[in-house]
Amino acid sequence: MTMAVYKNTLAPIEDRVADLLARMTLEEKVGQMMQLPADDEANIALLEEWHIGSYLHASGTICTSLQQRALNSRLGIPLLFGIDAIHGHCFEDGSVVFPSQLAMACSWDTELLREAGRITASEVRASGMHWTFSPVLCLGRDTRWGRVGETFGEDPWLVGELAAAMIEGYQGDDLSGEDAILACAKHYVAYGEALGGRDAYEVNLSKRQLKSLFLPPFEKAVKSARAATLMTAYQTIDGLACSANKWLLQNVAKDTWDMDGFIVTDWNNIGSLVDKQGVAQNLKEAAYQGLLAGNDMIMNTPSFFHDAIALVNEGRIGEARIDDSVQRILRCKFRLGLFDEGPENNKRKIPKRDAKSWHASLEASRRSIVLLKNDNLLPINAKTCKKILVVGANANCKIAQLGDWSFGPGSSNLGLHSAETVTLLSALTASAAQNNFSVEYVAGAAPADNTFNEVERAAAAAANADLVIACVGDTQYEYGEYFDRANLTLSGHQQALLEAVKATDTKLAVVFIASKPLAIPWVKDNADAILCAFNPGPKAGVAMEEILFGRYNPSGKLTISFPHCAGQLPVYYNKYSGWHAALAEQLDMRERYVDLPEEPVFSFGFGLSYTAFRYSNLSVVKPVLKKDEHLEVTVVLTNIGERRGVEITQVYVNDLVSSVSTPMKELKAFARAELEAGESAQLRFSLSYDDLSLVNTELERVVELGSFELMIGASSRDEDLLSATFDIVE
Ligand code: GLC
Repeated sequence: MTMAVYKNTLAPIEDRVADLLARMTLEEKVGQMMQLPADDEANIALLEEWHIGSYLHASGTICTSLQQRALNSRLGIPLLFGIDAIHGHCFEDGSVVFPSQLAMACSWDTELLREAGRITASEVRASGMHWTFSPVLCLGRDTRWGRVGETFGEDPWLVGELAAAMIEGYQGDDLSGEDAILACAKHYVAYGEALGGRDAYEVNLSKRQLKSLFLPPFEKAVKSARAATLMTAYQTIDGLACSANKWLLQNVAKDTWDMDGFIVTDWNNIGSLVDKQGVAQNLKEAAYQGLLAGNDMIMNTPSFFHDAIALVNEGRIGEARIDDSVQRILRCKFRLGLFDEGPENNKRKIPKRDAKSWHASLEASRRSIVLLKNDNLLPINAKTCKKILVVGANANCKIAQLGDWSFGPGSSNLGLHSAETVTLLSALTASAAQNNFSVEYVAGAAPADNTFNEVERAAAAAANADLVIACVGDTQYEYGEYFDRANLTLSGHQQALLEAVKATDTKLAVVFIASKPLAIPWVKDNADAILCAFNPGPKAGVAMEEILFGRYNPSGKLTISFPHCAGQLPVYYNKYSGWHAALAEQLDMRERYVDLPEEPVFSFGFGLSYTAFRYSNLSVVKPVLKKDEHLEVTVVLTNIGERRGVEITQVYVNDLVSSVSTPMKELKAFARAELEAGESAQLRFSLSYDDLSLVNTELERVVELGSFELMIGASSRDEDLLSATFDIVE
């Protein structure tokens, strides 16, 4: 008896897909489109009856038993297990956890993101799973939104670069590696741009704005990093739900970008068309809209199974539409090798959590931490600083240090990762014993807790200390899905704690451990030094102690702006010109709001070092460009300080006169350079012609003739940039 082509490991994948599809019943096809949560017995029971194609949030050995059942089915189509392993395989205890996306973004280190992806993939695959719902490509432009900490920050070009690296880490070259897993670029699209920073709320954007800012990171993920899957976002854009948006899913992603993987909805997006967005009369109509739009896998809308079958049997949906989705899903399963893994391969393996992997996590923490202020306080001089007081609950809080999506689905297991976590306090305590200084800890105040108040005791201790290290920020229930904030001040009695210890005139170093930028203008004005760590990961206590005592020279730079207050939002760097300031100039107020400066508290791209760098000799190699020519620029970077350091150089462009208003600067390139004290290097950047393009009112991406400004330097702040002009001519 000849072997079925789809079972032949030597046959081309497309032949195997076609052969298997031809053998499938309509029920088996629709079953492949179903994804259900595995933490529900009822869903587990449906595996054979509905021919389920995928489960999510499976853990422990259940993957093995479920996979065995799937392999025993009529056609033996293996299951695809998906999980939110978004900064390490965090739902499994002992996994190598990395800093949050927003924290790692501040390293500006694509190699680091790629390695984090690779290590995460090896652990996910060892646990019998095949797909992570990561990375997040949303833009973090409104810090009231609860999920800003899951983003790479506010700039679309940088988000695309960092996401592509992480996707390549997850997927390897072509998904065939034994540790490869499917990546999932999410949430498609503009989920973070909701009005008021409100999670899953309406987004008001034109197609031109989508094509200008929000689609480019996803295009890079799909076309250059070959992301295997996209996840449709919850919300509506201009009243049209993403999961019902055929232009977005079919025309853009599948037809224009030629995506050959598949699109999964977010959690019950199809059901939300009925009960949240009110755009479908019932679940069957919602299924109809979802199929027409181009969704391929349906996350947790159980009704879809019978509704989709009925829609095909009634002739409202052609079976060819179902076939397109099933082909895409099967293609990914074949590419992952799931059909060729014996039952043994589906057994859980011992993950390779070797020292090298944990070193990668520590190195990620080191490179992600940003020095925002240093008035000659850091590095701490252990000879003169003998008594250190540590205050703030976040100095000793695993949950705040690891951040969102670290503790199981819906943070269901806060006990995870205790053995691997080194908090700031524990690292300082260990250091004190070895370096002849004392550490006292008075928590003083805790985020999101108005009942906890040890401010007076902390102040009394501060009066007798040589240095106060105050760790402030936010914690669980102040961020995450459903948890947006209208007010971005430090919660609980944290602000009172800071002011009380400051009043003792003891030197004050603030360590910011939070999911996202908060409104901390007082901290900027009153602390002697500030480290921004965001959610810096389990080994970050070690990294922070190394930085505080100068054994590691900080190099991180912000990828998101800090607002003075919620009312100053939006405060992202790539702003437009034209804000009326005549009144301000006439009244010589030099401000834009009558009651706030225009600039953020801390700017995109900003970060200090224990050394100093100087930029000179900016040169545009060819200041007049013709069509399709690259822009080549050079600049000399010199380490003018006393010690080796890493500088992240940024390149911005401004299209001075264009058919549509464009931001006054847009990031187009960056480089990380490590220089010894006194060392100089000439940095060269090459921008493609397409890097100089815009989306015009006809929705075409074009490069327009005329003059451009080029800016290169240490941050997005004008005072940190050298500039030159160049022209594009016929
Ligand atoms: C959640 C999130 C999404 C996640 C998915 C599966 O609601 O929006 O980011 O990947 O459901 O957990």
